[in-house]
Amino acid sequence: MTTSQDFSDQPQDDAVELSQWERFGVDTSAPHSARVYDYWLGGKTNFPPDRAMGQAIEQAVPSVKAMAKENRAFQGRAVRYLAREQGIHQFLDLGTGIPTSPNTHEIAEAVSPDTRVVYVDNDPIVLAHARALMVSTPASRTTYIHADLGKPAELLGDPALTSTLDLDRPVGLLMIAVLMLVADEDDPWAKVAALRDALPSGSCLALTHPTQDFDPESVAKVAEAARAGGMTLVPRTREEVAGFFDGWELIEPGVAPVMAWRPDGEPPADPTAAYYWGGVARKL
Ligand SMILES: C[S@@+](CC[C@H](N)C(=O)[O-])C[C@H]1O[C@@H](n2cnc3c(N)ncnc32)[C@H](O)[C@@H]1O
Repeated sequence: MTTSQDFSDQPQDDAVELSQWERFGVDTSAPHSARVYDYWLGGKTNFPPDRAMGQAIEQAVPSVKAMAKENRAFQGRAVRYLAREQGIHQFLDLGTGIPTSPNTHEIAEAVSPDTRVVYVDNDPIVLAHARALMVSTPASRTTYIHADLGKPAELLGDPALTSTLDLDRPVGLLMIAVLMLVADEDDPWAKVAALRDALPSGSCLALTHPTQDFDPESVAKVAEAARAGGMTLVPRTREEVAGFFDGWELIEPGVAPVMAWRPDGEPPADPTAAYYWGGVARKL
């Protein structure tokens, strides 16, 4: 379903708009991953429960805001790499999040003006902001689909997707900081594999995932804070993250701390300062 309501121009003032959001299916009474993340990135689409959870997590990991920015920086480098070095001009961005500039289409269009991007998220608040993402130019096209990445066949058959992406040509599949929101019992590895099988050869996967590997004690507290707030948040080990790339050919440097993945300029002194694994791979 593509967007029919749009609130991206409205003031983001809690008192004015709480009830308005609720009318459109946004539950503002409990924290939500997209809005907690928006709070860390300095956005304005977040409410008291989101900020409370964001701050609780920040107590366990004081640099969590800087980490979220490193995750976005990886996304920028990966999209630029795919557009420049792999010749990918169409992207499927799953778990888009609340629009945060530069968004995928802005990064890719700077390399290739004829880019196509399909954004997908299942949170109504992202749907409400979709107009900010659906900015097409004479050469480019972007679309937003309100859908669950857990249903890959349905998603790939959505007319909004098939009329935007040419599934006979390579696609850049982005799963940036989203799979930690899918529990083991829902088998996120099988979802990624289904998408891999449906995409043509030459398609690429760029993925990031938070991990406990660099600081098990603090990240255990993060997972506990999320659980207490009713949110699924599963940090995963390098081996578990590498499992998402099964059947893809990893591109150098493989699964790496996001800060160490093809950094612009000098390599960071401590690449494990952001607790995310990241990688980019190609389907043969
Ligand atoms: C932490 S945000 C990440 C946003 C963006 N990818 C980034 O890294 O900046 C995760 C997003 O994934 C979305 N999401 C979670 N589970 C999803 C699902 N099953 N299908 C589609 N989107 C999902 C959330 O609504 C949220 O907007």
